[in-house]
Amino acid sequence: MAALGQGPVVAVDGPAGAGKSTVARRMAERLEFLYLDSGAMYRALALKALQHGVDLRDETQLSHLLGTTRIELSGAGHKTPAVLLDGENVTALLRSPEVNASVSLVAGFPLVREEMVRRQREMAGEGHVIMDGRDIGTYVLPGADLKFFLTASLEARAARRLHDLLSMGFPADLETLAEEISHRDALDSKRAVGPLRRAADAILIDTTDMEVDHVVDMMLSFYRQRVGS
Ligand code: DC
Repeated sequence: MAALGQGPVVAVDGPAGAGKSTVARRMAERLEFLYLDSGAMYRALALKALQHGVDLRDETQLSHLLGTTRIELSGAGHKTPAVLLDGENVTALLRSPEVNASVSLVAGFPLVREEMVRRQREMAGEGHVIMDGRDIGTYVLPGADLKFFLTASLEARAARRLHDLLSMGFPADLETLAEEISHRDALDSKRAVGPLRRAADAILIDTTDMEVDHVVDMMLSFYRQRVGS
């Protein structure tokens, strides 16, 4: 439960392409909450490392880089919340194939995760927040008022990513994407720190055959039942 004086907190976890960011963003709009995309923070660091030629396998260098990096996530009610990297809007660059290919590596380092988690907890401190990621309900915000774990078949998740990438103008094909997603799932689930895992008290929703609006309505109805209006 939320601490005294703190607003409600909702955690949304699940694998890539399960629909987390879309539904979490819409839910935040409906509740007038802040939407915090924790994956965007790992993506922003991966992008900066690529831009600065930092060795993506070097935990110490990455952790130093993060120490001098400002990552800001914009607030509620935005269709596509902006991500500022050292003050610059990098939203459009965060889903590039280069970042996709590097981000699991960056997110796998304990020193990087420790600092990211510290920042995520600070950002969620006042409540009225929906945060999505992999370890939000299990580790970052274990006391969240409501937790969801979204899944979908690999085929459905790859098809969604294909649609997203093509609409952003990146070249992509379904088979390669399915392979990439399944590789990323394995890395995200098997790592020692902050692995992708469903919290025991998270509500499981399989979004494979569900429209986005239906998922959002279902989540809002759980919210009203369990947290309030
Ligand atoms: O949700 P996403 O695809 O934008 O996440 C990008 C990467 O960051 C993905 O490989 C998993 C990782 N991640 C993580 O390890 N922990 C989080 N809380 C969020 C994302």
